[in-house]
Amino acid sequence: MKNVNIALIGLGTVGSGVYKTIAMQKSNIEHKEGLILNLKKVLALEYTIDIPEALKAKDFEHDIIEDKSIDIVIELIGGVHPAKEFILAALGAGKTVVTANKELMARHWPELNAAAKKNGAGLYFEASVGGGIPIIRTIWDSLQANEITSVMGIINGTTNYILTRMEEEKESFESVLGEAQRLGMAEANPKSDLEGLDAMYKLSILSSMAFHARVPIEYIYCEGITGITQEDIAYGQELGYTLKLLAIGKKSGNTIEARVHPTMIPVTHPLASVRGAFNAVFLHGNIVGDIMLYGRGAGDMQTASAVVSDVIYAAGREKHRYTTFYNEDKVSAELSFENNWESEFFLRIIAQDSPGVLAKIASVFGSHNVSIASVMQKGQSKDSVPLIFITHKAKEISVKRAVDDIKYIPEVLGVANIIRVEN
Ligand SMILES: NC(=O)c1ccc[n+]([C@@H]2O[C@H](COP(=O)([O-])OP(=O)(O)OC[C@H]3O[C@@H](n4cnc5c(N)ncnc54)[C@H](OP(=O)(O)O)[C@@H]3O)[C@@H](O)[C@H]2O)c1
Repeated sequence: MKNVNIALIGLGTVGSGVYKTIAMQKSNIEHKEGLILNLKKVLALEYTIDIPEALKAKDFEHDIIEDKSIDIVIELIGGVHPAKEFILAALGAGKTVVTANKELMARHWPELNAAAKKNGAGLYFEASVGGGIPIIRTIWDSLQANEITSVMGIINGTTNYILTRMEEEKESFESVLGEAQRLGMAEANPKSDLEGLDAMYKLSILSSMAFHARVPIEYIYCEGITGITQEDIAYGQELGYTLKLLAIGKKSGNTIEARVHPTMIPVTHPLASVRGAFNAVFLHGNIVGDIMLYGRGAGDMQTASAVVSDVIYAAGREKHRYTTFYNEDKVSAELSFENNWESEFFLRIIAQDSPGVLAKIASVFGSHNVSIASVMQKGQSKDSVPLIFITHKAKEISVKRAVDDIKYIPEVLGVANIIRVEN
């Protein structure tokens, strides 16, 4: 039986879940894994759950860093500072770190990884993407035989909850957001979720692992859901689509594209059935084909499941495992990032219902090499009607240029929304 001494930093939602999980599963883990998980210290600003006095750390340096018996430090305070300083200090002291901190990993991965390697310590982050969904180690430990060419994920529960409710209840974005905040499904300051930043941090980690190349956030296109209206969802539904905030990574040869944006997907797509606060990651490996992992992407116990699993994984290793990306330490000349990708588009254009207007719009699309797959006109009114266009695959820049020109057609009153479509 191996004894593993642990320090836990942060006793909020996930920290409390980890505390409870270790208590609940201790003897089961001893039996199954031959490991005694011994929580030695807990560092918190406030002790919101009842824990023994002897466990409470008074000082990070003295009680955690200088305690040579502590093997693993679990960081669950979130944000960049002081989480980064805590982690670097722990790694510097040769202690393995387990974290759920997506923002910190996405922003400072090379520095943290280098510190871990230098000190022979481990750095594990399963809980940083998809909460309880074991996606990182599925890629690392179970898909080694593959070259992964695409990842597509619903990896933010708040936005998926809002979009699902808008679709089901036919309510506006503002009203569903208010309800989500009342129910605790959205934070008081929901910016990071709604503007796609949370999904962007997770995509950086997910696509880096999948493509064996670091995908920095600076190379990820990011657009949130604040511009989505009930009309977009309803017209999409009529055309057989459902709307999701997707995090998409694709690799073709040595070129990577990574983007987070609202996306129409056919209702028959496996990700279309992911509703409410659930998350899922759909990926394609050249040997295995398509795989989808589905589950709760957040929550105290769900995330604790991933954190404690990392602790067990780390404790059971003779030698720690490090990423070996093509562009680990420096930019690799062999790797490029694409920002003019190809996809289909859903466009909602508001125009006067006068003869020839459709032909004029189609002609502008044609002049930019954008071909139309279908058009739908809603209602009949001289003043203004919504025209919904679905394009065939087209380059991002071509569609943007076409839209710029369409705005100059006299009968066109405005381009209400442009949403990418994935099949
Ligand atoms: N919640 C989820 O479902 C979920 C899912 C996946 C990943 N994560 C990640 O897990 C991490 C923790 O998230 P969470 O939801 O548990 O956040 P949380 O509920 O806000 O908990 C963070 C805790 O850390 C405490 N803290 C802040 N600074 C500290 C310091 N210097 N020393 C000690 N404690 C400090 C906070 O205390 P105060 O409240 O007093 O400031 C709070 O209790 C984040 O990186 C998050 O992105 C969360």
